[in-house]
Amino acid sequence: MSSDAPRARHVAIIMDGNGRWAKKRRLPRALGHQRGVEAVRKVVRGARELGLEALTLYAFSTENWRRPEEEVTDLMSLMKRFIISDLDEFAEAGVRLKIIGDYTAFKPDVVELVDKAVNRTSGNSGTTLAVALNYGSQDEIARAATKAAAKGPITPETISAELDTADMPPLDLLIRTSGEVRLSNFLLWQAAYAEMYFTDVLWPDYTAEHLKEALDAFASRERRYGGR
Ligand code: FPP
Repeated sequence: MSSDAPRARHVAIIMDGNGRWAKKRRLPRALGHQRGVEAVRKVVRGARELGLEALTLYAFSTENWRRPEEEVTDLMSLMKRFIISDLDEFAEAGVRLKIIGDYTAFKPDVVELVDKAVNRTSGNSGTTLAVALNYGSQDEIARAATKAAAKGPITPETISAELDTADMPPLDLLIRTSGEVRLSNFLLWQAAYAEMYFTDVLWPDYTAEHLKEALDAFASRERRYGGR
């Protein structure tokens, strides 16, 4: 790889396939999500070690409320447990935690925990870990456009400046696991010039090595941004 090969600054992942991972093993879905959290842990460590400036993970979409209540509760409790168990490590490693989406719709104990974690890491200057919670891209764009319109003319720049990701580097690479090939209302605006990378690996099996493979593939692609 030549040294001037493009280097990704901001990678986003649609973490898909927890349910199928569990089903293949005749295990409860909840266990698939539990193993999914272990994959999150590995991939965040990998992102730090690979020197990524930002990693955005799609943890809970505005559509995920339609899942059975028990599964929603499971996901919430996994997220809480993840923050409790891993915050020290991230904080000490310089990770800045950020949330995109309207997480204030979650239960007050989750909101409080998330707020504390975000505040504790807000001064960090290492990798930004943006977790998408109650996130939907169309909702984000509508919110951003409303704010932009209240301030003046609507342009791509004024909308970008109001997106939840406004303080992050441009999105370079969007990964989706589990063989599904769609964006599912994730970072639609930000993906305008991002490279797409789809893999059949189910999320619970995903490792830092897979992330490295995706970054290597990115580095060998030629990005033209509409020019030639
Ligand atoms: C997709 O699998 C995954 C989700 C809807 C949730 C992702 C959440 C986690 C990995 C755990 C919590 C996250 C953090 C940041 C601690 P699916 O259930 O849609 O799988 P399927 O399509 O195979 O059924």
